Amino acid sequence: MPTYILGIESSCDDTSASVLKDNIVLSNIIANQQVHKDFGGVVPELASRAHQQNIIPVIDKAIKNANINKSDLSAIAFTRGPGLLGSLLVGTSFAKALSLGLNIPLIEVNHLKAHILAHFVIQPGKEKPLPEFPFLCLTVSGGHTQIVMVKGFSEMEIIGQTIDDAAGEAFDKSAKIMGLEYPGGPMIDKYAKEGNPDAFSFAKTNIPGLDFSFSGLKTSFLYFLRDNLKKDPLFIQNNLANLCASMQSAIVNTLMIKLKLASQQTGITEIAIAGGVSANSGLRKAISDMHETAGWKVHIPEFQFTTDNAAMIAVAGYYKFLEGNFAQQSVTPYSRGGI
Ligand code: KG4
Ligand code: ZN
Repeated sequence: MPTYILGIESSCDDTSASVLKDNIVLSNIIANQQVHKDFGGVVPELASRAHQQNIIPVIDKAIKNANINKSDLSAIAFTRGPGLLGSLLVGTSFAKALSLGLNIPLIEVNHLKAHILAHFVIQPGKEKPLPEFPFLCLTVSGGHTQIVMVKGFSEMEIIGQTIDDAAGEAFDKSAKIMGLEYPGGPMIDKYAKEGNPDAFSFAKTNIPGLDFSFSGLKTSFLYFLRDNLKKDPLFIQNNLANLCASMQSAIVNTLMIKLKLASQQTGITEIAIAGGVSANSGLRKAISDMHETAGWKVHIPEFQFTTDNAAMIAVAGYYKFLEGNFAQQSVTPYSRGGI
C-alpha cells in the first residue's frame, strides 16, 4: 500500500503544499508573497495574513494536482520551526485541524532538516543518485548557515554555523545597500553573471574552526561603497555587475573554505548543499568544480527544491511516518532552534 503524505510549509513568506506518494513527488505548489517587496524584507504580520489567505487554495491545488482525494492521505506533515511564529501558527493550526478531521497522523518537521532531506525527493523521470550516509550538507538560507554531518534521516549534527549573519542575509543586505529589490540574492546572482569576480576585494573575517562570520564582510562592503560614492555618485550604477560578482565571490569563497575544512577534518567527501542560497550559480559551480578537482561526490538540488517548498517537508514527514514518529495535537511551533 503506498503512503500519501501531505506536506505544509509556512515558516517564512512562502505558502506551500505538496503531496508525495512514498518519496515520489506528485505535486508541489508554492505561493510567493509579493506584499513584502515594498518593504525591502519580510514583514511578519503581513506574512501571517498572506498565509491565511493562501493556505486553503494552495492545499486544495496540491491535492487536486496529485490526482488523489483527501481521504487517500496517510498523514499530514507540517513545518513546526524554526521560522516566524505567526507564519508557523497558520500552517500548524491547519495541519492539526486537517489531521483531526481526517483522523490521520500528524507529523512535525524541522525546517532545516527538511532542506537537507529535499535531496531524497524523487521526481518521476528525473531520478538521480541519492546522497549516502554519512554526508556533509552545507545548508545556506536566509536565516541559517550550517555545516551538518548527516548520519541518517533523523540523525544530524551541526559541526559549523554562522556566529552572526546568514549567507542569505549577506546577499540580501549587500543587495539592499546597492538599492536592489528584495530578496537580493537572486538579483546579485543575475548581475554577477556579467561581472568580474576579481574586480573588487572586501575584507573577510576568517574565524577559527568550522564556524562562519559574515558581518565583517557586510561592513567592509558598506564602507567601500560609501568611500567610492563620495568620489562618484554613480559608482553603483557604473559598477553594478562587478560589485555583484565580487560580493558573490567573497561569500562563496567564505563558504567553500569552511566546507573544504569540514571535509578534511571528517574525511567525508560525499557533499550536499541545501537551502535558498544553494540556488546561487557561483556556489553551484564552486561545488561542482570540487567533483573535478578533489573527487567529491556532490549533490546539488534542483532549483525548485532549493528555496522553501513543501515537498521537502513531506519527504521529511515520510521518513518519520516510517518510524511511526507522530506529533500530538498539543504540539506548538518554535521560532528558534537548530536541527
Ligand atoms: O531557504 P530559503 O528560501 O528561506 C529560508 O529558509 O531562509 O532562502 C531564502 C534565501 C534569501 O536570502 C535569498 O536571497 C537567497 O535564499 N537566495 C539566493 C538565491 N536564490 C535565493 N541567494 C543567492 N543567489 C541566489 N540565486
Ligand atoms: Zn528555508
